[in-house]
Amino acid sequence: MNARIGEIADGIFRLSVRVDAIAPPAGFTFNHFVVLGDEPLLFHAGLRGMFPVLREALGHLIPPEKLRWISFGHYEADECGAMNEWLAVAPRAEVAHGQTGCMVSLNDMADRLPRVLQDGEVIDLGKGRRVRYVDTPHIPHGWDAGVLYEEASGTLLCGDLFTQVGDGPALTGSDIVGPAIATEDYFRFSSLNPGMGRTIRRLAEISPRTLALMHGPSFAGDCAAALRDLADDYDARVRASLSVT
Ligand SMILES: [Fe+2]
Ligand SMILES: [Fe+2]
Repeated sequence: MNARIGEIADGIFRLSVRVDAIAPPAGFTFNHFVVLGDEPLLFHAGLRGMFPVLREALGHLIPPEKLRWISFGHYEADECGAMNEWLAVAPRAEVAHGQTGCMVSLNDMADRLPRVLQDGEVIDLGKGRRVRYVDTPHIPHGWDAGVLYEEASGTLLCGDLFTQVGDGPALTGSDIVGPAIATEDYFRFSSLNPGMGRTIRRLAEISPRTLALMHGPSFAGDCAAALRDLADDYDARVRASLSVT
């Protein structure tokens, strides 16, 4: 197992680990994003089993003990399994997450108390980097779900949204909606709910320039259109599920 390092937007690096045993023969990637700044942030702490590989990879960008913020989409092992390992190696690091995630899981599970983020709250990382937290409950899954938007580069760290199987380049301009729809059919990983389309269209209104996918290549292109297309697909799924008798 190794982590490939790629810069997907100015000052934002992707640490990508491919696992061949998931969804063979395509395989599956787990991506972790580093936002550089005076207070570097890691989005996705990663599985505990990946921690040695990720720590070594982060060391190519910053001394791991300088990590200041740890955030992620929701409480699951691939998103935050290794958060306490990071807290142990980085003495100034804090976990940052939304109110629900902190109340339901992190106030107990994190070895140091997390910083609670309100919907829309910004963390200033220094050097012009600011990340905004956006609540997206149950989307694509998890009551505590949320995303981060890095304002300087226009990068939406969108977690499990647009999940796709297989490997690929760090950054693509090719379609990511079709592969996401196919992967939804394969895994059924999303919690279909009536608020999906509305919440995802709210992300489109941010008009990001890059989408940083946890499972798949990052996308540079018309991100608002991709988000609206994904929202339409989820709306159709919700309608179809309600029409089944
Ligand atoms: Fe997840
Ligand atoms: Fe994930």
